[in-house]
Amino acid sequence: MHTESALKRWLSPLVDPKIFDFWAAHLSRTWRWERRLARVSAVTAAADGATTLTLRWGRRAPALLPGQHVNITVDVAGVRHTRAYSPTVLDARQWQITVREQPGGCVSHFLSAPERVGSTLEVSAGFGDMLLPQDQAPWLLLAAGSGITPFRSLLRAAAAADALPPSVTLLYWADRAASLCFADEFDQLAADHPQFRWQPLLTREGEAPAARINAEQLAEWAPLLAGSRVYSCGPAGFVSSAEALVAGQALQVVSEAFSLPPLQPAGEPVTITLARSGRQLTVPGGTPLLAALEQAGERPPHGCRMGICNTCSCGKQAGTTEDLLNGALSAEPITALRLCVSSARSDLTLDL
Ligand code: FES
Repeated sequence: MHTESALKRWLSPLVDPKIFDFWAAHLSRTWRWERRLARVSAVTAAADGATTLTLRWGRRAPALLPGQHVNITVDVAGVRHTRAYSPTVLDARQWQITVREQPGGCVSHFLSAPERVGSTLEVSAGFGDMLLPQDQAPWLLLAAGSGITPFRSLLRAAAAADALPPSVTLLYWADRAASLCFADEFDQLAADHPQFRWQPLLTREGEAPAARINAEQLAEWAPLLAGSRVYSCGPAGFVSSAEALVAGQALQVVSEAFSLPPLQPAGEPVTITLARSGRQLTVPGGTPLLAALEQAGERPPHGCRMGICNTCSCGKQAGTTEDLLNGALSAEPITALRLCVSSARSDLTLDL
């Protein structure tokens, strides 16, 4: 890798990346100057409505910490789309991502199709803070739906390194048993490592379906919150409930919410001034700023569209915004915001 980086540095002044990519594409599916491309080597069912893709790298896979996400960019009918997934590293050249099919979700349907085998996907560098801790404090992992994917990665990495702490509890909410991903793996992990236990909590199956998340469940399954590291991952409502339930009790709380911002009724029009281009736009207040800017013909950089990847981070120079995931208002004059999960509550000036 170092040799490759040094060679690229040396050749940079001489090479036009676009021309390099054009000719490289004729020789290899995965050689590109700037972009990281992985080939899909298998597409298999993970659960009802969920599919696992195995990604194979032409050489050693790029660095990725367990628990991190990457943005995956695909071209669907001539339009580029980017979504965030949390890969599990299988070995030096293979990763897996698990995709849950979203109703009407063009990217999830595209990725889940068997004909993806043999195609290449563009993959970003890793990001995210849900990482392995460096000590042996107990873990309480709270997952809902696709929120299980970073935990699979963390658990496999810690078990492989013989670094699981003395107590690890995973509570995993899903609507039905058939929707659970990696159940066999977790059963095997529990058999191999007595300090690990996991409990599926099914919200739409059984004589007494489980509640989404509440204090009684935590008291029953994870009575030793004090001194534990709590990780929660799932839709925004789930994560905020989890945070509220463990607030002030745990050693540390790390959470990641993945939800599209809720649809808001269009509010009063506001004026957005784009400081760099000098353009002024009138957009409906309450709409996610990324969507509002796109509707006005702007193309701000973006990735997941759900507040995870920070690709859409943008400076705000003036005005009040609302964080659509938690309703928090920000009137700070100079601050950064994520365009995909923020809306305007007054006229704004953005660093665009
Ligand atoms: S596009 Fe990923 S945080 Fe906004």
